[in-house]
Amino acid sequence: MNFFAFELEGISFEYQGGQKALDSVDLAIPFGESLTVLGTNGSGKSTLLYILQGLLTPSSGAIKVFGGKAFTPSKRARICMMFQNSQAQLFSLTVLDELMFGPLQHGLAEQEARGRAEDIMELLGISPLANRSPWQLSGGEMKKVALGTCLSTNPDVYLLDEPTSGLDPRSQVALVDLVMKLRESGKTIITATHDLHIIEDISGRSIVIGEDHKVLADGPSIEVLKMNDVLLKANLIHEHSHWHEGYTHKHSHFGVHEHAADKGEAGIEGQPPEAEQKFGKGGFYQNMGDLGGKLKILLEHWQEHNAEHAKTYLEWAEKAQAEGRSELAATLREIARESGRLEELFRKAESQL
Ligand SMILES: Nc1ncnc2c1ncn2[C@@H]1O[C@H](COP(=O)(O)OP(=O)(O)OP(=O)(O)O)[C@@H](O)[C@H]1O
Ligand SMILES: [Mg+2]
Repeated sequence: MNFFAFELEGISFEYQGGQKALDSVDLAIPFGESLTVLGTNGSGKSTLLYILQGLLTPSSGAIKVFGGKAFTPSKRARICMMFQNSQAQLFSLTVLDELMFGPLQHGLAEQEARGRAEDIMELLGISPLANRSPWQLSGGEMKKVALGTCLSTNPDVYLLDEPTSGLDPRSQVALVDLVMKLRESGKTIITATHDLHIIEDISGRSIVIGEDHKVLADGPSIEVLKMNDVLLKANLIHEHSHWHEGYTHKHSHFGVHEHAADKGEAGIEGQPPEAEQKFGKGGFYQNMGDLGGKLKILLEHWQEHNAEHAKTYLEWAEKAQAEGRSELAATLREIARESGRLEELFRKAESQL
């Protein structure tokens, strides 16, 4: 079983005229991972997403999508990109038509396609826009319709380019909640943003692209948010400010909120709040009284790290292979393959809660 949605090795991209947009990017994205691509204006985030959708071909380096080199039509159909500029995405006469287009293309009958479009409009709170022209909507409304076109085809991979920009606060929260639900359902989600507030909620892992178009950092989102030097170098925070909110506000994936201030604690610079410090010892779970609640959190935690672990097993398999220890390499590869099965079992357990 192939474990990675995308594997990029030494990817560089230059636009016509020689404008550099990406420089030597190495990136492996396991299925089911939620990844944030952070970077300042012009760093290359959108270019990276275009490459992951197969819209642009790298100038150099190698890319594998779903384990193979070619972007076949069937692979493309499994990936949906929500463009930074929604106008680039919308073309139908009405919002309803726009949301029925994908399902009809996928062979759904008219009635089913309409039903799916209506469900999505309800989910996104845009039912009153059904008969409006997508071209006459506000920026935020357009963005929701654009996201709806992705949801309507139920892709495996979502590429979200600045999904929260231009949305009002309530719509931003709704979008973050929706991304969290997509994560829980096992979708692979890659979000380009410079909105540091949403990162912990929408992603387990983040990369930072610098102004030199190289990857400056790659790691768990909570760790990346603490890398003040990197964020400063990437022009994501100001010299005189530090990123504190990640430490004083924890919005869990299950509606549990940890506010340091609520508990009368002062946020300590560079330190996570108490519950987060205790995360590894189970402190984070202390308010979850019932078995279902605790287990739900644990299952999500196991799932999130399962993908990272599988990646590490494969890396070690390669190292073992390089040292001529084929048997060990084969066993490690087997462990990585079995991790895919674990993923299924975690989800099965979740569905039985
Ligand atoms: N069509 C194009 N032709 C030439 N250069 C381009 C083109 N599109 C983007 N670039 C350049 O490539 C680099 C990366 O652009 P990209 O749009 O990927 O950045 P970004 O990180 O998405 O920025 P933003 O936060 O502003 O959306 C920038 O220097 C940009 O000027
Ligand atoms: Mg962009």
